[in-house]
Amino acid sequence: MDIKIALITMSDKGYNGTREDKSGPMMESLLKGQAEIVYKTIVPDERDIISKELSRIADNGLADIILTSGGTGFAPRDVTPEATMDIIERNVPGIPEAMRAYSMQKTNRAMLSRAVAGIRKKTLIINMPGSPKAVSECMEVILPILEHAVKTMRGETNECARV
Ligand code: MTE
Repeated sequence: MDIKIALITMSDKGYNGTREDKSGPMMESLLKGQAEIVYKTIVPDERDIISKELSRIADNGLADIILTSGGTGFAPRDVTPEATMDIIERNVPGIPEAMRAYSMQKTNRAMLSRAVAGIRKKTLIINMPGSPKAVSECMEVILPILEHAVKTMRGETNECARV
């Protein structure tokens, strides 16, 4: 199945070049052979910039899924969940619930991620924390459900019985 994915790293330091983005390449390598990466970018931790970027991708149908990394914690400039909630039309709480439940087995700091997920038009947006380790742990949770998520969003299946 052809799944189009956009990757967005939220990081002031990554954006201004004072820190190398390791989470973007981590997401990319874990998706190899599973989906087509149609777009990747680094944006600063600015609520307006993030929400505009997310809605631009969704409204133009550029990607089935947008994966974001970073900006989900408690730091004053962490605004990824707010920017995401600004523009989603349907909340998808089960995905961050599952990511946090699984991640709690790795570190109790998992509860400090305020990541959200939701749907705008036919694009699913999923926030993940910023560290490459967190990204790889959260990707373990979401990779197995992406195909079914995209099929149901596209209206290609109502058949949810497990084979
Ligand atoms: N989730 C997983 N799976 N593994 C991790 O190491 N780190 C946590 C949490 N979620 C972590 C995790 C930490 S330390 C923080 S502060 C929050 O994610 C928020 O991270 P962010 O601000 O980079 O988004």
